[in-house]
Amino acid sequence: MTSFWSAYIIVLTVITIIGTYWLLFGNRSRPSDSEAKTGHVYDGIEEYDNPLPAWWLYMFVITGVFGVGYLVAFPGLGNFQGLLGWSQEDQWEREVQRAEARFEPVFAAYRDKSIEQIAADPQAVRMGQRLFANNCSVCHGSDARGSVGFPNLTDADWLYGGTPEAIHATLVNGRQAAMPPWEAALGEQGVTNVAHYVRTLSGAEPASAESAAGEAQFKMFCVACHGADGKGNQMLGAPNLADNIWLYGGDLETIKHALRKGRNGQMPAFGEQLNEDKIRLLTAYVYSLSSH
Ligand code: HEC
Ligand code: HEC
Repeated sequence: MTSFWSAYIIVLTVITIIGTYWLLFGNRSRPSDSEAKTGHVYDGIEEYDNPLPAWWLYMFVITGVFGVGYLVAFPGLGNFQGLLGWSQEDQWEREVQRAEARFEPVFAAYRDKSIEQIAADPQAVRMGQRLFANNCSVCHGSDARGSVGFPNLTDADWLYGGTPEAIHATLVNGRQAAMPPWEAALGEQGVTNVAHYVRTLSGAEPASAESAAGEAQFKMFCVACHGADGKGNQMLGAPNLADNIWLYGGDLETIKHALRKGRNGQMPAFGEQLNEDKIRLLTAYVYSLSSH
């Protein structure tokens, strides 16, 4: 906060506190004039100007004193840090340190174990599952089965590979899929033909004149990433198109959309956010989900 806004807040706060006391004491009627009337009359009923009840007055004064004491002790008045030196960052850091000290032995137990060994340990898998619920389920679903655009992590079909090393690399560095758009290269008829051909790869539809025309273009434009038989390439995250498992959907329209506009699925990197212990527990959890 700049010193101007700091001063602004301090002045405003102090004036407000003084103002409330002035309102209270400056306008207070005393017990001696208990017969005083406000002059307000409604339907012949006159309003007395009685003093505030003592308990109310004292509560107000105590609240005010507490407030002033609080502002002296804790941050609240602009940039003034308070005499106790408390800050939210310190408190947060202390809590993190306490949590780390507490969980350190738990994590340490898994450090010299392989991912396969961790995945076979029910307690570790439960910890991985909780980490998954906090960090991953927003995209992959609480059961890790994914949805359109978010891969199912429980099957044996992998975009980038299901080995412990591949899963670990996915979590640390993230993944950025790059399927370019093809509408310019293929034209609308080409998009339709190739989409039909893609569907024949998994047996979703029988070969036809259109798919036969699409095959030539597939061989020209697509095999570099998806492979000659359409089985994909895990180095590039290019999906297997021949297994009838779809990231975005296997109906004709969805495939045509992918061909026209391209696809750019993004898996965020967690290497900065989560420490290696947690990443390894998560890797083991994901690894444990699919059968090996
Ligand atoms: C913001 C959404 C999002 C979050 C959060 C997210 N993911 Fe992903 N994840 C994706 C997307 C999208 C892909 C697919 C990328 C692509 O299209 O190539 C992916 C891919 C993956 C893959 C690769 C799957 C394969 O078939 O190779 C793994 C493993 C994975 N995520 C695990 C995780 C774990 C574990 C977490 C939590 C630490 C997580 N993801 C958090 C969106 C997310
Ligand atoms: C530069 C590499 C590359 C080329 C060339 C390429 N693709 Fe892809 N394709 C990918 C990647 C990577 C993905 C995954 C996109 C994602 O995860 O968001 C993908 C996804 C797809 C999908 C969606 C699959 C699903 O499971 O939903 C289809 C369909 C597809 N490609 C068909 C084709 C066809 C047909 C061609 C040729 C016209 C082609 N691709 C050319 C890299 C490529």
